[in-house]
Amino acid sequence: MTTSVVTGATAGLGAAFARRLASDGHGLVLVARDAERLERSAADLRERYGVEVEVLAADLATDAGIAAVEERLSAPGRPVDVLVNNAGFGNRGAFLDAPVEDELRMLKVHCEAVLRLTTAAVPGMRERRRGFVVNVASVAAYLPRGTYAASKAWAVRFTEGVASELRGSGVRFLALCPGFVRTEFHARAGMDSSGLPPWAWLDADEVVAAALRDLARGRTVSVPSARYKVAVSLARHVPPALFGAAAGRAGRFDPKLRGTRG
Ligand SMILES: NC(=O)c1ccc[n+]([C@@H]2O[C@H](COP(=O)([O-])OP(=O)(O)OC[C@H]3O[C@@H](n4cnc5c(N)ncnc54)[C@H](OP(=O)(O)O)[C@@H]3O)[C@@H](O)[C@H]2O)c1
Repeated sequence: MTTSVVTGATAGLGAAFARRLASDGHGLVLVARDAERLERSAADLRERYGVEVEVLAADLATDAGIAAVEERLSAPGRPVDVLVNNAGFGNRGAFLDAPVEDELRMLKVHCEAVLRLTTAAVPGMRERRRGFVVNVASVAAYLPRGTYAASKAWAVRFTEGVASELRGSGVRFLALCPGFVRTEFHARAGMDSSGLPPWAWLDADEVVAAALRDLARGRTVSVPSARYKVAVSLARHVPPALFGAAAGRAGRFDPKLRGTRG
């Protein structure tokens, strides 16, 4: 049985990755902060899929939390073949609304943890000439939308860079860029998403299925669904200042809440 480490594995996209990998027969290491919820998720996955599931309670906004996961990823004799860097969150408010400490915490989870965990996991995969890393970014990576978008743009560029440098090594890399997905993300960030049209929403299990299909096809970036593929290709060709103004109006669907991002 191969082992997959999934961060942010107790809710939303991370839980969907955990279910899919378990149903494909992978053993799992589930990472998140809430230890009780981790235990409940692990028990459910063991019972449903009959795979081995470890839990690792760690806050990826802290050095100690990142170090604990690094240690598990590089533990001798306990190979990890799949890493899903998924843990993440949104801050309510636009630039200058969110305290800089919150923005720094976001960079720690979305960038530093992704860099450090990938660095810990890949040498073993390269030695065994097999494995893959999925970095969960966002369509926001293509939009001029503050720290959240910038952190996700970093994840996309980082993934593309390592994929290119490690081509032929047997290790594959994917940056996953979903649009709005029904998860706990928006409620946790205090964002009101009630004004979004139904067609804007994606299903977490379908997003994960699309990501793994794209990975199997050898793609480095996955944008699930035709509508978001069109949105990303538009965003790539429209000047940021112009797109920023339009996206600012379209994306901030509750005028009382600035900074709604997914
Ligand atoms: N939902 C969307 O519309 C959307 C769109 C594009 C991209 N994304 C990205 O998808 C990823 C997953 O988001 P989601 O929508 O599935 O969110 P979610 O439903 O809120 O789940 C977030 C998960 O991450 C964990 N987590 C949060 N902060 C953490 C930390 N500091 N250390 C360790 N674990 C942490 C949470 O568990 P604990 O609270 O127990 O730690 C939870 O398991 C994020 O990177 C997000 O930016 C989401």
